[in-house]
Amino acid sequence: MIVAIDGPAGAGKSSVARALAERLGFRYLDTGAMYRALTWLALHDGVALDDGPALEALAAAHPVAFGDNGTVSIAGEDVTARIREPEIDAAVPVVARHPEVREVMRGRQRELGRSGDSVIEGRDIGVVVVPEAEVKIWLVADPAVRARRRHAERDGLAMDELSEELRRRDERDAVNTHRADDAIEVDTTELTLADVVGRIVALVEAAR
Ligand code: DC
Repeated sequence: MIVAIDGPAGAGKSSVARALAERLGFRYLDTGAMYRALTWLALHDGVALDDGPALEALAAAHPVAFGDNGTVSIAGEDVTARIREPEIDAAVPVVARHPEVREVMRGRQRELGRSGDSVIEGRDIGVVVVPEAEVKIWLVADPAVRARRRHAERDGLAMDELSEELRRRDERDAVNTHRADDAIEVDTTELTLADVVGRIVALVEAAR
């Protein structure tokens, strides 16, 4: 079974998807981490971020790998921590915008996701990557709560900077963020992580 979790930055996708996968005994696939890892490699290798064909070749040559303990690797480097730096936050939407890059990434996502029961987190999972997913969730939250969650993850950035950064990212990510017609919306603003996971587990049980 595949559970697709889509939604904007800061809606709680990563925390929810990780906890849900653990609770269900499913594999967890963070597709945003794949675009982040490719962005890291492009910056590291000096590949221009506006060169779609070069980025496509880079992605095809260096598939992103996930370790059992949640580590993310590309080109033999463990980039788990480095892909969460502000420099990557700023550059990743540019890389993720290229259609040829998305094709390579989606192929790899299907390969990883279909090798067993999975919770797949991203922006386009329920609509493009795995439209046949048995359960599709669209996670949302109030902008102020999303900025506060980001604040807790990123030391040293002021709240107003974070609100502005989120607004800019929403704009840049909008083109690749799709809500499936058959997705169930869960608003996490007023809910605890346990509440959200409990609701989705009930939906998964009902779909089995
Ligand atoms: O969820 P995140 O912040 O880790 O995502 C990183 C970037 O990748 C963000 O710009 C959105 C993009 N992304 C995408 O275009 N498609 C996905 N399936 C996942 C992430």
